[in-house]
Amino acid sequence: MDTSAYLKAHIRTVPDWPAPGVQFRDITPLLQDPKVFRVLIDAFVHRYMVRGLRPDVVAGLDARGFIIGAVLAYELGLGFVPIRKKGKLPYTTVQESYELEYGSATVELHADAVQAGERVLLIDDLIATGGTMLAGKRLLEKLGAHVLEGAAIVALPSLGGMQRLRDNGLALHTLVE
Ligand code: PRP
Ligand code: ADE
Repeated sequence: MDTSAYLKAHIRTVPDWPAPGVQFRDITPLLQDPKVFRVLIDAFVHRYMVRGLRPDVVAGLDARGFIIGAVLAYELGLGFVPIRKKGKLPYTTVQESYELEYGSATVELHADAVQAGERVLLIDDLIATGGTMLAGKRLLEKLGAHVLEGAAIVALPSLGGMQRLRDNGLALHTLVE
């Protein structure tokens, strides 16, 4: 079984959560099994160790992007910066609002989290409409950083997010569709 199929076999679908009609792709089984967790993290580590793709810093999206993003940054010997839902970061922030598959949200980033010109890997667990990742890209760019690539475990192409992000100039790397 290839890596994508192996990971896909460990993603659980929960119907009608958190709202009727949503097929929720639950990645927690990937984290729970240590062997699977290692395969998952190593898939990203191998990609971003390569010269040319190596970022200066990893930025993770609230909340599940923190889990994989922080471990990945540690493995790559890089720092990690959190992009949080509104009202959680204590210091001066930049903000961006966006629509979700099931609601709307505002995300924030500390104003000194990245430096102008830094090459940032932006990571989350999943891309649906692309709104969250696009908001993250805009926040990082407000601070003058360059988003090298957007990465996620899962892409849901039928929700249009992949296309939307590419149309907005973001290269993407996902492991499972
Ligand atoms: C989920 C998921 C992504 C986002 C993807 O997070 O973890 O961050 O939705 O959707 P999009 O591509 O349509 O923006 P959610 O907002 O549910 O928050 P959580 O991680 O805090 O549960
Ligand atoms: N975020 C937005 N849509 C989602 C879905 N269908 N499954 C998991 N996370 C999501």
